[in-house]
Amino acid sequence: MEMLISADFSTSTLTVEQLKSKQSQLSDGQKRLDSGREDFTGWVRLPAEFNRKEIQRIKEAAVAIRNKCDAFVIIGIGGSYLGARAAIEMLGKKGAGPVIYYAGQNISGPYHVELMEELADKEVCLCVISKSGTTTEPSIAFALLKEMLIQKYGKEEACRRIYAVTDQNRGVLREEADREGYESFVVPDDIGGRYSVLTAVGLLPIAVAGIDVDAMLSGAAEMMGPFPFEEDGAAGYAAARNLLLAEGKVIEVFESYEPRLFYFSEWLKQLFGESEGKQGKGIFPAALQFSTDLHSMGQFLQDGNQIFFETILNIEEPPLDITVPESVGKVLAGRSMNQVNRAAVEGVMAAHGKAGIPMIKIKIPRMTSRYFGQMVYFFERACALSGYLSGVNPFDQPGVEDYKAEMRKIL
Ligand code: PA5
Repeated sequence: MEMLISADFSTSTLTVEQLKSKQSQLSDGQKRLDSGREDFTGWVRLPAEFNRKEIQRIKEAAVAIRNKCDAFVIIGIGGSYLGARAAIEMLGKKGAGPVIYYAGQNISGPYHVELMEELADKEVCLCVISKSGTTTEPSIAFALLKEMLIQKYGKEEACRRIYAVTDQNRGVLREEADREGYESFVVPDDIGGRYSVLTAVGLLPIAVAGIDVDAMLSGAAEMMGPFPFEEDGAAGYAAARNLLLAEGKVIEVFESYEPRLFYFSEWLKQLFGESEGKQGKGIFPAALQFSTDLHSMGQFLQDGNQIFFETILNIEEPPLDITVPESVGKVLAGRSMNQVNRAAVEGVMAAHGKAGIPMIKIKIPRMTSRYFGQMVYFFERACALSGYLSGVNPFDQPGVEDYKAEMRKIL
């Protein structure tokens, strides 16, 4: 059997006894998650129980989109966008499918004007993703791009080029999809946005990018456990985060040395920020890209206010490599670039270890679809358990409504 992703706590500054001290609270959390009775835990069994016919329909729609267009626009924000982008950026688009664009993840006029100019002479398909169907950013972007499609192709053909992922029964997007006959997919009722990567929300765009969604689901299913506590990396990681928080480490810095993980870190920020930041509690999730940010934030980490711990997303075997030319000088010549990058990981960890910074290493064997599935499930489970440990509901987000109400007043 191939390896699973795992968490290494040997540089966390925590002892095995400290981690074990959370075992009974965590096993309560595990029981709650696995009971199937808690609200919004539909994602827990889904990787193993996903309706095969629905996966087939997702894959067929993806093939149709790949054949029909050379520009595919994913319209959505937050949990309806970040997971798909994280997968597509990490794994790369496969084969000769359409170029992938994103819309409705901001309300920038310039961004959307430039996007529409770029799309003007392309064969376009849209995928609008919104569980509520009422979110401002994707609603505006969808209205603009839909008008563009209608002008370009006429109403009937435009409708054939629009795919919707939304609630099964509720919301204006569901009504519109049914009325106009868009091919549509469902965001399950019992799965919230940030836990929906492995539903049609993530899987349809990911399949359009030519990525193997079956391998992704199998990878996630491999992380479903149950594992004994000592072998349950997600539970150990949840324990470690809460123990470090109790020591005053109020910021978690996710660090990666592969630029392709940038959007995965963005998804992590959303997952942990929205799940735990409530009732005056939570760990502030931040992300840095190394070695780039070592030349800016490296100073703060090494020597600044020690209110953080680090979580390193370490790719054990990067997919490509290249030898550094002789002309660069004696120390580096002839080494592979990945070897130099690995030396950076080890060097930073040694230096940060000397400064007493707690570090948790998440070991990700390779950058494949299967491991992406494992990563998503590992962090979703860890986040849910961590939220239960700190006594918050990790599945709601009451705080995001306040700014929306203020914005509506202004408009
Ligand atoms: O995780 C969440 O619940 C949010 O980030 C939502 O996904 C985001 O606000 C978009 O919501 P919707 O899918 O309803 O447009």
